[in-house]
Amino acid sequence: MTGADGHRQRFGLTGRRALVTGAARGLGWEIARALAEAGGQVILNGRDPAALDARVRELTDAGLAGEAAAFDVTDDDAVGRWFDAAGALDVLVNNVGLRHRFGTADCPPDDFNHVVDVNLTSAYRMARRWAVGRIAAGRGGSLINITSIAGPRARPGDPAYTAAKGGLEALTRSLAVEMAPKGIRCNAVAPGYFATEANEQWLDDPKVQAFVEARIPFKRWGAPGEIAGAAVFLASDASSFVNGHVLVVDGGMTVNF
Ligand SMILES: NC(=O)c1ccc[n+]([C@@H]2O[C@H](COP(=O)([O-])OP(=O)(O)OC[C@H]3O[C@@H](n4cnc5c(N)ncnc54)[C@H](OP(=O)(O)O)[C@@H]3O)[C@@H](O)[C@H]2O)c1
Repeated sequence: MTGADGHRQRFGLTGRRALVTGAARGLGWEIARALAEAGGQVILNGRDPAALDARVRELTDAGLAGEAAAFDVTDDDAVGRWFDAAGALDVLVNNVGLRHRFGTADCPPDDFNHVVDVNLTSAYRMARRWAVGRIAAGRGGSLINITSIAGPRARPGDPAYTAAKGGLEALTRSLAVEMAPKGIRCNAVAPGYFATEANEQWLDDPKVQAFVEARIPFKRWGAPGEIAGAAVFLASDASSFVNGHVLVVDGGMTVNF
């Protein structure tokens, strides 16, 4: 094997099975498609079976391997039932997230708990079921949590999401040091500003555009597909010694002084 072939293989996902949560649209869909393009067999999760089936058809029409798994990641029983029947899974991408932009006065504890449940507790629930199964089977794997540049820093009026994503970063580190002896790597991807449906209302707002041009060195939003290479890298053997890392994909926004 030549060196070039070796690295083509190390960056590839042939023979790997991956679950991506929240994969019917936005960053989750782009990650799922890229993992499939890299040779993986990808399972797309979400709550809307019809939306998932349409995405699976897009993959299979392109000659790629995809299947749907409709369940709510906040539902402990549904998650348990799915993992009981799932079979071997080499890669888990915890992508589901809920944006919530309310300041402290307008964020009662129940709302706070809900945001933490969707963004953080659900990722732990999924990671726990997955990792315990991998360890029992004597198999390693790669866990990727989709955090945010809001994890280690803050904007005013955003306590729940900031706390949840900060917690998800900390969880990534904790699982990384606990799971590595079992051959399981745990990393995170932290997106900056991406032009997904979730941000639709901001894309044409002149004030937000001015902020984007002032703060992001590329002076534009990230295109959703620009998240995907980071996930392929962290899923593949090319990152075999990368563990506990948060790979920031923000066009340089957070290093811009
Ligand atoms: N876009 C950005 O600029 C940005 C920046 C920083 C971080 N992020 C993070 O990146 C991730 C993806 O962002 P996005 O903008 O692509 O989000 P999005 O457009 O809101 O997509 C979220 C996906 O998750 C699914 N989903 C939501 N709740 C679910 C649940 N309980 N169980 C299963 N599926 C569920 C949704 O599908 P259904 O509703 O059909 O279930 C949807 O497909 C999130 O974690 C977000 O916090 C995004």
